[in-house]
Amino acid sequence: MSAMLEVKNLITYYKTRMDEKICSVDDVSFVLEDGKSLGIAGESGCGKSTLAMSVMGYYFPPLYYQSGSIVIDGKDITSLSPDVIRRTVLGTDIAYIPQAAMNALNPTRKIMRFIEDVLKAHGSALSKQEMRDLAEDRFSILNLPAKVLDQYAVELSGGMKQRTVIAISTILSPKVLIADEPSSALDVSSQKIVIRLLHDLMDKGFVRSMLFITHELPLLFNVTDDIMVMYAGEIVERGAAKEMVFDPLMPYSKGLMNSIIVPEEGTRGHVLQAIPGAPPNLKIRPEGCRFSERCQYREVCKGPLENKAAGQGRIYRCRMGEGKLRDLYRGQEEQVKKFPLVSHTFVDEKIAAAVGTKGAEHE
Ligand SMILES: Nc1ncnc2c1ncn2[C@@H]1O[C@H](COP(=O)(O)OP(=O)(O)OP(=O)(O)O)[C@@H](O)[C@H]1O
Ligand SMILES: [Mg+2]
Repeated sequence: MSAMLEVKNLITYYKTRMDEKICSVDDVSFVLEDGKSLGIAGESGCGKSTLAMSVMGYYFPPLYYQSGSIVIDGKDITSLSPDVIRRTVLGTDIAYIPQAAMNALNPTRKIMRFIEDVLKAHGSALSKQEMRDLAEDRFSILNLPAKVLDQYAVELSGGMKQRTVIAISTILSPKVLIADEPSSALDVSSQKIVIRLLHDLMDKGFVRSMLFITHELPLLFNVTDDIMVMYAGEIVERGAAKEMVFDPLMPYSKGLMNSIIVPEEGTRGHVLQAIPGAPPNLKIRPEGCRFSERCQYREVCKGPLENKAAGQGRIYRCRMGEGKLRDLYRGQEEQVKKFPLVSHTFVDEKIAAAVGTKGAEHE
């Protein structure tokens, strides 16, 4: 298995108008393998979007690069200039669908114009007709009728707009696609359609690997291969999706799993148990365990803070060992199991029909 995106010890920060430094990505390392999808979960403000922007190597104020490296498919993009990144990396090596992108489509241009612009900006030699054919092809994979290409964004429903943004962002078949909360503004049915279609793009080879960002850990279950949990600028746990959802080790991941709003009919808006408190202020780069203040086990935790390995490739950042954590969690297992999770199978069963019927009832 080869690495498609390799991030090592990456540190990036925002510089405020008061000249303060907010280190929102702090010593982050991870690998995304070719053909795999990796979910990033964490509360609001934990640095998920900043990490997404940082791994593109494309920095502009107030976001700055401090140290670390980013390698995409063997190509080190860390020290490339913004101009070179824009021309030779964005869209092809790595594509980013920003949070709330669907509301950012220029309302005065027809959709086909966005596609032509992306292709032309990358020196495409395709004729107008070939561009059109390519666009229609991708639109059909995303279950969008060709007539959308001649429409304006305002004429489209939320779900269609989001799929249009996905089509535009992936038109150059990126090696890495970062989808930042691609479904959070949509209703439950449209969310599932979007997740399903992103996987279709991967299955057909138009996207080689994917980073999928969401607040909602259960949404990542069986939707991404692996899950990373981010807290206060750091990766605090990573593992296979199923283990991360059903058997989180680090107390923050555990809290996140127990406090999540399950995006399922009948349970929407149901909060199991919120994590008390709020993430720390990143202006004062916190020393030691950043979750400590909110952790219900802080009184009993001992040992050096380090990234520890557990079975099956799991890595977690905690002072406590796996045995100790499992002792502390004993008796809490049932809490998680009681609530339904959005599984890929569920998406398949319930959504295939809708997709097959052009998703008409969801527009
Ligand atoms: N332009 C900015 N200038 C200064 N600080 C910023 C800026 N954008 C974000 N931050 C800070 O960086 C931290 C991480 O923000 P980020 O948007 O990456 O979080 P997030 O995990 O994506 O949150 P959400 O789930 O709400 O999208 C936050 O503490 C935030 O206040
Ligand atoms: Mg964000």
